[in-house]
Amino acid sequence: MNILVIGGGGREHAIIKSIKKSPLCGKIYCLPGNGGIAFESECHDINAKDISAITAFSTEKNVDFAIVAPDDPLVLGAVDALEAAGIPCFGPSKAAAIIEGSKAFSKDLMQKYGIPTAGYKTFDNADDAIAYISAQNSYPTVIKADGLALGKGVIIAENFGDAKRAVESIMLDRAFGDSGNLVVIEEFLQGMEVSVLAFTDGRTIIPMVSSMDHKRALDGDKGLNTGGMGTVAPNPYYTNSIADECMERIFIPTMNAMNSEGRTFKGCLYFGLILTDKGPKVIEYNCRFGDPETQVVLPLLESDLLEIMLAVSKERLSEAKVSFKDGAACCVIIASGGYPESYERGKVIDFGDITESDELLIYHAGTKKGDNRAVYTSGGRVLGVTATAKCLSEAVDNAYKAAKKIKFDGAFYRNDIGKKALDYLN
Ligand code: AMP
Ligand code: GLY
Repeated sequence: MNILVIGGGGREHAIIKSIKKSPLCGKIYCLPGNGGIAFESECHDINAKDISAITAFSTEKNVDFAIVAPDDPLVLGAVDALEAAGIPCFGPSKAAAIIEGSKAFSKDLMQKYGIPTAGYKTFDNADDAIAYISAQNSYPTVIKADGLALGKGVIIAENFGDAKRAVESIMLDRAFGDSGNLVVIEEFLQGMEVSVLAFTDGRTIIPMVSSMDHKRALDGDKGLNTGGMGTVAPNPYYTNSIADECMERIFIPTMNAMNSEGRTFKGCLYFGLILTDKGPKVIEYNCRFGDPETQVVLPLLESDLLEIMLAVSKERLSEAKVSFKDGAACCVIIASGGYPESYERGKVIDFGDITESDELLIYHAGTKKGDNRAVYTSGGRVLGVTATAKCLSEAVDNAYKAAKKIKFDGAFYRNDIGKKALDYLN
């Protein structure tokens, strides 16, 4: 089969490395791809949001199956456009992708169907939102822009001044454009965070191995929020009994709720959970694989990813084999100096004497291939170094041993990825 993957980050590199193992996989195209993906597929410089160009490309290249990985094209309706052109896809329709595209939608969905989440109220003007925050007078409080905001649309305010500034920045200064037409003010929840990605075709939902993201830029969860500086899987806080509770109270009810709304979700549904003392609650849904969660989840997948994706698209997920290896994985993100604020690009990357294997994978995110075989930095998160092993401590050690060998001007990574998970296990 000719496969098209849309996107160009570490998540897409992990998806491509995984589907390549399938006997069903033929030629792979990636739009736009990156410096690492270019070594294993044919990349073309078409933006992931340019849906008409993507559709024309797919028709011209006789693409048999498309995997739409990032949030933007999904929310814009890439799957609807490709399927209208006769190309089956892995990924939700526009109607279903709204579960990530609008936080007001997802909060209302959870409220309507009794899915546990933080208390909230939605506002369409800044004055009312600020008056509500003042009347609540409870801090920290959480302020969320309704729409997509590159992972920056959530502000945790410690006092009234910060909360007011957050509302003004979203609604009046329009820091995230139309994504700030509505704002959600949410109760602050305390607890350990867990990411669970799940395959679903609207009839069956199969959670993958759980994981833990590390969102802040610096060690000890200090510094600014980022797209994610590293992950481990499985997440030890997510016990079997919590998993059973989530299946019953969150995963199946969410799938059914989307069906009841006439918005059947097919693809990978991401549950961002927080384990509170009143049980697990949803802090966010994403309509796609997480990044960098995918970089620890897929290396532990034993089954054929492409076969699962095809089964989801045909609404036959119940017939697919989905199993994960025992053992653990750790991904350390190597970023450009200055990330998540401004950083320089174009630094040549020295990979030292690293050799990849099933137990050590180097996923490219913000990289570009030079004319020779050299690879240069081109983004904030540059590489994800994933190690898998029988136990988490070995996976963490091996990921760091490899990360130390990789050098470029200004490179940095967190030194404590997996620490919270290991503390819990010990
Ligand atoms: P999101 O973009 O929705 O994933 O939010 C980014 C981060 O903000 C989450 O990973 C949490 O760490 C935090 N967060 C979001 N909502 C809440 C909440 N209601 N209570 C506490 N922390 C939250
Ligand atoms: N790592 C969080 C996300 O993909 O949204």
